[in-house]
Amino acid sequence: MKLNVNLKDKSYEVIVERGIIKNITPYVDIEKKFLIVSDDRIPNVYINTIKKQLKKVDVFIFPHGENNKSLKNYQLVIDKLIQGDYSRKDYIIALGGGVVTDLAGFVASTYKRGMNLINIPTTTLAMVDASVGGKVALNFDKLKNVIGSFYHPNCILIDIDTLETLPKRHYINGVIEALKTGMIGDKELYNIFFNGDYRDHIEEIIYRSLQYKIKIVEQDEKEENIRKVLNFGHTFGHAYETYFLMKNYLHGEAVALGIVTISKDKPYLEDIKKIFTKWGIKLNINVEKDKIINIIRNDKKCDDDIVDLIIVDEIGKSKIVPTKIEDLSRYL
Ligand SMILES: NC(=O)c1ccc[n+]([C@@H]2O[C@H](COP(=O)([O-])OP(=O)(O)OC[C@H]3O[C@@H](n4cnc5c(N)ncnc54)[C@H](O)[C@@H]3O)[C@@H](O)[C@H]2O)c1
Repeated sequence: MKLNVNLKDKSYEVIVERGIIKNITPYVDIEKKFLIVSDDRIPNVYINTIKKQLKKVDVFIFPHGENNKSLKNYQLVIDKLIQGDYSRKDYIIALGGGVVTDLAGFVASTYKRGMNLINIPTTTLAMVDASVGGKVALNFDKLKNVIGSFYHPNCILIDIDTLETLPKRHYINGVIEALKTGMIGDKELYNIFFNGDYRDHIEEIIYRSLQYKIKIVEQDEKEENIRKVLNFGHTFGHAYETYFLMKNYLHGEAVALGIVTISKDKPYLEDIKKIFTKWGIKLNINVEKDKIINIIRNDKKCDDDIVDLIIVDEIGKSKIVPTKIEDLSRYL
């Protein structure tokens, strides 16, 4: 399956194909140098499969985890590129989850003002969300994604077979983002989750999620308007992540809590609570309301004490509602 991303200054393909990591050469210039950036939980077999297809290749592995999407690792990758005398026409291959694609993408966007980048996402979250859309970032001083830019890859290669080794909790983490996409814009996608085991439909889930995200990004690349709908559940979700210091909840899990919060009084609330509970997410949380509201007030997306909430009244349809910070307490 192939999708095209058509932007003002760049167009590229997203290929969803089982086994594609065994056949990446049609998508790159094999004569160039390649730096594979990955983390220490990505099975070696994937790295070696890619490595053996290339002539001039280095590998940079950093420790897994959100804390490693850091300026320190950014510097280490840059150092590796300088030591290897990489040019803008050479490639970074980002092989991993969202932590890898964000970090490697930010390196690619800044090294010599932008070098070639291939994304090979290996988590559900990176497949449906992090690897596509051009947002690349680092964390700094406990602030998530505070250093970043917009930078698109040359192409994205999605090999669903790599999900076989992904731990279940991380698998569900990305599936939550796909459910979110169904809620905001694709009722058929939403319905898939109520029709047996989501793993039996993972190809369609990934394809439909990408299709919707690409459609939105093409209309509003820099998140000035319509792209904000992708943040459904994220206003409260990010606040919970910060509140719990990113320790107790993965990103998608915090988004699930955020979706439940913002869906208060909606007709579909009980259905999504049931499904999140089935996926093992603890929905009963105790938070100090004032702290949550203050976190949202200090967020980069809050202007003059107004935050754009994404509201879904009917599954498959979403709207942006500018809301005063003081009115948020009714959701908590
Ligand atoms: N740029 C964007 O638009 C965007 C969107 C959403 C999230 N993000 C970012 O994505 C990050 C989270 O990404 P994530 O959920 O993929 O987490 P992650 O990158 O930390 O990956 C989760 C864990 O799974 C391991 N792993 C990855 N693939 C594997 C595989 N196939 N087999 C075995 N283990 C594997 C990783 O080593 C890691 O330990 C966050 O930093 C978030 O800010 C970015």
